[in-house]
Amino acid sequence: MERFEINGGTRLKGTVEINGAKNAALPIMAACILCESETILHNVPDVADVRQMAALLGRLGVKAEQIEPGLWKLKVEDELNCHAEYELVSKMRASICVMGPLLAKRHRAQVSMPGGCAIGDRPVGLHTQGLAAMGADVDLVNGDMVLKAKKLRGVEMFLGGPFGSSVTATANIMMAATLAEGRTVIESAACEPEVADLAAFLIACGAQITGQGTPRITIDGVASLQGAEHRIIPDRIEAGTFIIAAAITNGDVHLSNIRLEHLLAVVDRLRQVGVIIDKSNDGVDVSCSRRLEPITITTQPFPGFPTDLQAQTMALLCLADGNSMVTEKIYPDRFLHVAELNRMGAQLRKEGPTVIVQGVKRLVGAQVMASDLRASAALILAGLAAKGKTCVHRIYHIDRGYERIEVKLASIGADIHRVKD
Ligand code: EPU
Repeated sequence: MERFEINGGTRLKGTVEINGAKNAALPIMAACILCESETILHNVPDVADVRQMAALLGRLGVKAEQIEPGLWKLKVEDELNCHAEYELVSKMRASICVMGPLLAKRHRAQVSMPGGCAIGDRPVGLHTQGLAAMGADVDLVNGDMVLKAKKLRGVEMFLGGPFGSSVTATANIMMAATLAEGRTVIESAACEPEVADLAAFLIACGAQITGQGTPRITIDGVASLQGAEHRIIPDRIEAGTFIIAAAITNGDVHLSNIRLEHLLAVVDRLRQVGVIIDKSNDGVDVSCSRRLEPITITTQPFPGFPTDLQAQTMALLCLADGNSMVTEKIYPDRFLHVAELNRMGAQLRKEGPTVIVQGVKRLVGAQVMASDLRASAALILAGLAAKGKTCVHRIYHIDRGYERIEVKLASIGADIHRVKD
């Protein structure tokens, strides 16, 4: 196993290029199951989850090869296997994105039921309910969801759950609907930019979709889809993480390949904290005043404050001048970073789905354990600001979703090293 060793206290300075969005790349790769010809994808991040999706697609008869950094070629070679097995699904929940495409194109999908994970319960009922409404038979066999349908039918459906819309359920239904008979309308669809990017890809393949990026998406089924050439949108969560890295070190950093319109809630909140975020010619300049103001944040579906930046923002608020409140409305148990940040001298108190953050003058280096992707990022950020040395253990979590984060941080002055245990 590997760990990061960080000597905190350096102000970050320089330019960082943001990679393509992991959460856009994964469903778009899965969508290639639907296509008759080759797809070329640009701006694909080199992260473990992308390699994992390529491995799963390989088992499902889709040749997925990386041609050069960021550039992937995908093409269906055979359509015999429709089974996404436990061994692969248990490593990556986004594997569920193959369900809609397999069902629509091969008339059968067998996908191991993903369990809970470190960020809490992650039900998948909306995925199967939506596909059942389109005419699929759904069964649970030995822990696998088995779906069958000779032909899916377009239908009007409400896809909202108890916590609002679902990103990957919207993706699955939208992908399945592209080849269904007639019109599908998804009400309470996820509005996340990654869903809109998937729609843009599907449209380039020949799909008929309108309303992407809004809570009502309409899809008119077509007979077939061809492959297409597509550029993945920049990763708004990686961008947000680097904005906070600049802020927490009182740095002065320029970020390129970033779309600020995907980060409006984050920019709004961070400006209230005192972070200076200015659009420049080819990106965004970030710097920070010395005094951080406390704020209140509540995570929400897009365009609200993203749950995937909750932990990182909490690390920053640890150093604010006063008490902040952080409420998690998407995953009420996504707080495993709280105890680890407290080991670094933070004053955090959890009360139900809310954490009260009492700002402290400084954080101190410590041994801490990463529990999931975004919690790992929060601990690295805290380590960058802390006095002394921080060791972040179990960093395989971070490699799932950030491309060589330590190399990028070191390139703007951070003292961070990857060390083998
Ligand atoms: N939900 C249900 N029923 C369902 C599905 C979801 O109640 O059938 C609930 C969830 O429990 C949660 C809420 O709906 O409370 C939203 O979950 P969603 O389905 O949108 O999450 P997801 O599609 O599984 C994606 C991202 C996550 C991100 C969430 C929320 C991908 C591959 N994953 O997950 O990303 O946190 O949306 O924005 O796109 C990450 O990158 O670190 C990550 C966890």
